[in-house]
Amino acid sequence: MNNSFKKNIIFQKYEITRTKRERKNGYASKVIWFTGLSGSGKSTISNILEKILFKNNIYTYVLDGDNVRSGLCSDLTFCSIDRNENIRRISEVAKLMLDANIMVLVSVISPYKKQRLMASNILGKDNFLEVFVDTPLNICEKRDPKGLYKKSRSNEILNFTGINSLYEIPEHPDIYLDGTIPIKENIKKLITKLYENHIIFFPYTHKLFEY
Ligand code: ADX
Repeated sequence: MNNSFKKNIIFQKYEITRTKRERKNGYASKVIWFTGLSGSGKSTISNILEKILFKNNIYTYVLDGDNVRSGLCSDLTFCSIDRNENIRRISEVAKLMLDANIMVLVSVISPYKKQRLMASNILGKDNFLEVFVDTPLNICEKRDPKGLYKKSRSNEILNFTGINSLYEIPEHPDIYLDGTIPIKENIKKLITKLYENHIIFFPYTHKLFEY
C-alpha cells in the first residue's frame, strides 16, 4: 500500500488533556487486560470488578471480545490474522478510552503472546496490566457456558482456542488468577493488587460486594 497519504494527517491537540481529566476525577486510567480461554471466567470477573469500580465513582468500560465482535470487529474471523486485527482494534479503542480517563477492562482471549505485547506497546507499558485467568481446558470445556466446546468437538467450529487453535500461556502476567477458585477470592486478589499499586484508593473489604 502507498502510505504517502499519511504525511497529510496532522495530529490535532485539544486543551482538555488526559492529565486534566485525571486531576478532575482523582484517579489515573489504566487498561486491565484479562486473557484466558473461552469459559475461563474473564467476563464474570470483569463484570464484578466493573460493578465495584463503578460504585466507587470510577468511570469504567468493558471491551468484551464477543461484544466487540458484534460491531466494530464483526468483519473478522478467528484465523490468526483476523485475531491479531481484533486485538489491534481493541487496543486502539482502549487507548482512546484511556485518554478519556476511563478504567478499561478488556476481556478477550488474546491467545498469542505477540498480540498481548502489541497491546502493551500500543497502550504503553505503564498503562497496561495483564491479568491471566488460568482455568484449565478440561474445566472450561466442562463449564461450556455457550455450548461452543461441544460444537468445536463435533467440528461445527474450526479454529476453536484450546481445541484446534493455540493458546499461549502468559509467562509473566502482572496478576495471576486461578480460575478454579471462588470468584470472591479472585476479586480480593485483584482489588488488593490494584490498591497496592496505587491504581485504586480503596482497600479490599467484604462491603465492596454490596453494590
Ligand atoms: S480473540 O482470540 O480474537 O481474542 P475474542 O475474545 O475476541 O477472541 O472472542 C472470543 C469469543 O468468541 C469466545 O468467548 C467465544 O464466545 C466466541 N468464539 C466463536 N468462535 C470462536 C473460536 N473459533 N475460538 C474462540 N472463540 C470463539
